[in-house]
Amino acid sequence: MESDRQIVITGNWKMNKSTEETVAFVKGILPKIEAANALIYLAVPFTVIQPAVEATGGSKLVIGAQNMHDATDGAFTGEIAGGMLKDVGARFVILGHSERRHIFNESNSFINSKIKRALLDEIQPVLCIGETLEEHESGKIEEVLYTQLKESLEDITPEQLAKMIIAYEPVWAIGTDKTATPQHAQDTHRLCRDYLADKWGKEVADKIVMQYGGSVKPENAKSLLEQPDIDGLLVGKASLNLDFFSQIVNYR
Ligand code: 13P
Repeated sequence: MESDRQIVITGNWKMNKSTEETVAFVKGILPKIEAANALIYLAVPFTVIQPAVEATGGSKLVIGAQNMHDATDGAFTGEIAGGMLKDVGARFVILGHSERRHIFNESNSFINSKIKRALLDEIQPVLCIGETLEEHESGKIEEVLYTQLKESLEDITPEQLAKMIIAYEPVWAIGTDKTATPQHAQDTHRLCRDYLADKWGKEVADKIVMQYGGSVKPENAKSLLEQPDIDGLLVGKASLNLDFFSQIVNYR
């Protein structure tokens, strides 16, 4: 049974696609999302945010980024500020993705600082959390996820939390073809929602959109989205393919 929360399906392109490929994809997906009941987001590389926004032509496709820095400006060679993202039309930003945590050593406190900046910049933060295979197998799921939520969301008010999306992406499911079972994903989303209710209040916990990510494909989108606490999907590889992504957004 689905809840009455808005379904949000996000494609995370990671480090893929040229300007030409981006414009072709966006123009190709627009007619396919017209009938979708979900909101459709695309997190694209910095270099193609502006062409992607222009190609949406004011449709319901929402373009965002995959990372940002926590300062507004200054001597941070190679970094991008939230104000710069907003300037080119990005409306959301993925923060704390497992690739940022594990390849680039981002800590919960740095992610917390970025979330605060994104909120000030009025860009919707999408916070990613998830346990590694080792943590999963040693039964540490709760401990890991609660710590990620607690530290990444420190000093965030319920009103601010209500503007965010939380994405549960078990690290062992990302790019491995080992999708979490709908039951495991549901149970984990429930755990997280209960934790949010305990710390930030039931009202915001009932309202916040929680996405599942990790080897989402056309074949498993529907069974995941049928779970009561799964309100959306964060799709990596399958979002690069127009046909697969169209099938996912039209999962019904
Ligand atoms: P895959 O869908 O390729 O497993 O990637 C998931 C992901 O990391 C989305 O952010």
